[in-house]
Amino acid sequence: MSTTEDKHHTKQQSQPEIDEVTNDQILEGHEFDGIRELDNQLPPWLKYLFYASIVFAASYLTLVFVFEDDRVIQAKEYQKEMAAYIEEEEAVDEEEQAAPVVRTQEEIMASGEATFSKICSVCHGKFGEGLVGPNFTDEYWIHGGSREDMHNVIVTGVIEKGMISYKNLLSERQIQDVITYIKSLQGSNPPNQKAPEGEKYDPEAEQGTPS
Ligand code: HEC
Repeated sequence: MSTTEDKHHTKQQSQPEIDEVTNDQILEGHEFDGIRELDNQLPPWLKYLFYASIVFAASYLTLVFVFEDDRVIQAKEYQKEMAAYIEEEEAVDEEEQAAPVVRTQEEIMASGEATFSKICSVCHGKFGEGLVGPNFTDEYWIHGGSREDMHNVIVTGVIEKGMISYKNLLSERQIQDVITYIKSLQGSNPPNQKAPEGEKYDPEAEQGTPS
């Protein structure tokens, strides 16, 4: 408790009382058993951080409990993502089921070209002109030029020459597509062609061969 003298003393002062040691302002009316409290200001950054955390907490709690927003409720977020995933899977499944019917020649060629440039062009040349592997643009084939012959080579590989088996690396559809693409290169006459290898292949001679 303040003494009468103290009260008198403070009243006289227009300025608030200042602690001699810390130079901080002494709080009025905060005195217990002779221990007085200093008005010790928080550094501004800490104070604003504190205010900001209050604002954040308030808006976060509102989102969680009032709006039950699915950005902050994990169960809802999970359900939303799962639903989107399942929808996407179904769309892909449908697309795959419908694919053999609706695929256009352009799509087949695009798929074949994609496989070719990603995997085969390293050895067979960017335009199929031949490099390590034989030229695909001439009429000469080592293992035969029908779809079946090519399929055989792609699935079995010619290991000793460096052509591996693509049986487990490509789907049957991808193999069919890349064969279609390779067949389309016939006669395209790109620059830097590798010399013909193997036998001349005549599609007419092989009956019933789809080209
Ligand atoms: C690492 C190099 C390499 C890669 C990659 C490669 N090949 Fe070959 N390929 C060869 C070689 C070498 C031969 C020749 C084999 C021989 O002389 O019997 C060949 C032969 C072939 C033949 C037979 C050609 C003929 O004249 O009968 C076909 C078809 C073929 N490759 C398709 C492909 C396809 C499709 C891919 C991509 C999926 C591919 N190759 C990737 C090296 C490669």
